[in-house]
Amino acid sequence: MTIHRGAAVLALCGLVGIGAQARAQHAETKKAAPGITKAVAVLVPTKNSKVEGRVTFTEDGGKIKVHAVITGLTPGKHGFHVHQFGTWSEDGMATGGHFNPTEDKHADVTAAMRHVGDLGNITADESGKATLELEDSHLSFHGANSIIGRGVVVHEKADDFVTQPTGAAGGRLAVGTIAIAQPTP
Ligand code: CU
Ligand code: ZN
Repeated sequence: MTIHRGAAVLALCGLVGIGAQARAQHAETKKAAPGITKAVAVLVPTKNSKVEGRVTFTEDGGKIKVHAVITGLTPGKHGFHVHQFGTWSEDGMATGGHFNPTEDKHADVTAAMRHVGDLGNITADESGKATLELEDSHLSFHGANSIIGRGVVVHEKADDFVTQPTGAAGGRLAVGTIAIAQPTP
């Protein structure tokens, strides 16, 4: 009887030991897991559009650097936003409205108070190509302002930064999903 009880206690100790070890390993994995430092959205044309491109987001000292190269545009300005959802659809409407976790008004990218997703306009040259470089402190890869998994939308018209809540930028010409990317070595 005493022997049996001892064996049971030993077996129990063994189980507890394994559990504690697994928990310790899990905690270590969590601690060692590197944060997201880069994300990429590949822009896919919507129906009847030829607009395509690539947007790279890179974390740098608490800010996010945005680099975009977009082609197939009409020359001039086009609204450029992060929208709430990252789902492509033929008309681009599956991306919902501008990503706005702070419940602020629509504004230009330079405004202190704005939708987190308000990235202003991109400007296409005569060949229909637009490039954009900006650094922003509203965008984030973590927490409530995280843009991971959300959508990038390129619009038909210029964003006027006044009309609420869209900037009157018109139709949606390309949509991309912001995906976690391999960090640059
Ligand atoms: Cu938009
Ligand atoms: Zn907006």
